[in-house]
Amino acid sequence: MIHELLKQMTIKEKIGQLALLSPFFLIEELSKEAAGPIKELDLDEEKIFSIGSILGVRDAKEMIAIQERYLKKSRLKIPLIFMGDVIHGYKTIFPVPLALAASFDPENARVTAQISAKEANVSGLHLSFSPMADFVRDPRWGRVVESFGESTYLLAECAKAMVEGYQKEQPGGEKLGACVKHYAAYGAAEGGRDYNTVDVSRLFLHNYSLSGYRASVKADVKAMMTAFNVFEGVPCTINTYLLRDVLRTDWGFEGVTISDYFSLGESIRHGVSENARDAATKGLMAGLDIEMVSVCYLNHMEELIKSGEVPMSLLDEAVLRVLKLKDDLGLFKNPFIGASAEKEAAYLLHPDHLDLSEKVSRESIVLLKNTGVLPLSTHNKVALIGPFVTNTRTNGPWSWHGYNDHNMSLLEVFQRGELEVTFAKAGSSPEDYSKDDYEILHEADVIILYLGEDRQRSGEAHSLTDISLPENQISLFESVRKLGKPCVVLLQNGRPMVLEGILDAEAIVACWFLGSRSSEAIYATLIGENNPSGKLPMSFPINTGQIPVYHDYLPTGRPVSDCLRPGEYESHYLDQPNEPRFKFAHGMSYSRFLVSNLKLDKTRITAAETLLLSVEMKNEGPYPGKDTILVFITDHFAQISRPVIQLVKSKKMMLKTHETVVVEFELTPDDLGYYLADGSKIYDKGDFTVHVGTNLDHLLSAKFTLI
Ligand code: NOJ
Repeated sequence: MIHELLKQMTIKEKIGQLALLSPFFLIEELSKEAAGPIKELDLDEEKIFSIGSILGVRDAKEMIAIQERYLKKSRLKIPLIFMGDVIHGYKTIFPVPLALAASFDPENARVTAQISAKEANVSGLHLSFSPMADFVRDPRWGRVVESFGESTYLLAECAKAMVEGYQKEQPGGEKLGACVKHYAAYGAAEGGRDYNTVDVSRLFLHNYSLSGYRASVKADVKAMMTAFNVFEGVPCTINTYLLRDVLRTDWGFEGVTISDYFSLGESIRHGVSENARDAATKGLMAGLDIEMVSVCYLNHMEELIKSGEVPMSLLDEAVLRVLKLKDDLGLFKNPFIGASAEKEAAYLLHPDHLDLSEKVSRESIVLLKNTGVLPLSTHNKVALIGPFVTNTRTNGPWSWHGYNDHNMSLLEVFQRGELEVTFAKAGSSPEDYSKDDYEILHEADVIILYLGEDRQRSGEAHSLTDISLPENQISLFESVRKLGKPCVVLLQNGRPMVLEGILDAEAIVACWFLGSRSSEAIYATLIGENNPSGKLPMSFPINTGQIPVYHDYLPTGRPVSDCLRPGEYESHYLDQPNEPRFKFAHGMSYSRFLVSNLKLDKTRITAAETLLLSVEMKNEGPYPGKDTILVFITDHFAQISRPVIQLVKSKKMMLKTHETVVVEFELTPDDLGYYLADGSKIYDKGDFTVHVGTNLDHLLSAKFTLI
């Protein structure tokens, strides 16, 4: 059907299918706008009513109105596809992706994506610009909040689960196409500064940067968004190696490629396209299908095709992919598919969705330190201070359709509960509290300080050179500390933070941005109704100068022999240890989980075999709870230097008090392999060590050989 349609299309109609613009152009009366943006962009009514995709829409009603208006004017009645950023929820907001990763359970990424798809699809969207599968080791980068952290394994598992979650048809028929982004290596921006230059080797690209996008392609993701940065000096949006050689030829990706916002136009600023005409040539030649917001294709492609500078076959291929996407998502059968004001009223912020948000939030919270003050006892009198105690803006960055007004503050949740709140006042500095306030603070048994960063400090274009807690908050902690009361520090954070100023608090809890039910989940954790089970998806450094600091580093030729007293010519800093303050996968529970009895079914395997391993895991109490068994490998000898340790499997388990379970894993040679610079995957024969445990400090190990 789509091939037939293509035959009927004029060049102009084909080019239109490759344009993605904001709905503004189709909503406004064009004659009134003729002097404004339309003129500046050199667009006219014919071009506008030929475009194939729309970026963002308010709701089902608006989508239906735009689609109707568009189809009325369209000769071939090819429906528009509506795309947008549904990053961690639509109206019901779930934990930010970094927090989802902290739950160490990719199922949470899957189920939240399903609900996001349901809410977004009934509101008129067909495709979400999510997941962000950028590999990242630099917490200065603001978009770390949208990432799944520093492990390629966790990243790939979460990205895959999220793609499958969005794209799985729900019982009511709703689904979203997923568009993974930002291809490629966008998370490797130098100095952590967003949009900055990226300079990574092909070895790094294939082994680290590509892991999340590759997993998404394997999960049949519908679309791939290109990144703002360069790879090997060429902007990713016009990069033939990335878009043709790797994506199409090596991976067999048949979906649509989409530029990031204006990134085709920006290839001129990168100094690699001479002008918009050249950008259009380079984009289509490299394999870019849809151009987001800049209009190089709309304004120049016709001439390029007619002059033969760009072959018609390339245009046809790109258009066919767009038509196929629309067909796959059901738009030809029903151009309004999904959109329904009645379903919006019924589904959005449905109590089940909010409950899911709380459940996942509970699993995402990471207990970094606890001397025993948590969980709070029902007899405790608590005081709540710090900038976020009365805050309801818990959705975090990128919750475009989510309103914080539905959310409760931590204080409001406490007021509903059983514990006596002796004092509560929001403030960021010691000066925000009077002498009288400090007197009353004395009456509390426990002081809870809700510190960290607000929503504006992370996200796109929100990078930092210093990721420490703000000084005024540290001073506040110090002045409260003088009262001699146990202190619990809660962190609102969109990234790993430097926490040196508050380390001696009795308890520290990383709460991220958890979304619609953030305060409820935090409260449940504080009072022990939830036994924390989150783990850090990224290392928390001692100071910003340690960055990048991560668990799966390569061995150096000069390893440190003794962490406390490194030798002079060993790879170390003079002023700080090499290890971060809180390691990857660190996260405490109110229970103790014991891992023992690691068994391998063989000690030698061939490339055709699977290694079975098992361990016992015991919840020694005193609470029921979850913990995650992690399986790492060390490849001792290979063609290239391999990480000292690398996560390859994990399983999150729920155990009753004093319950013991046997947890089994299968390792295949695929888990042991790595990529060469040409993108081929190989496995080296030789010795490996497998390490199993719930954190990096307590691992059981066993050796085996790949023969
Ligand atoms: C720019 C961002 O980089 C990208 O992640 C997002 O999807 C687009 N804007 C569209 O909003």
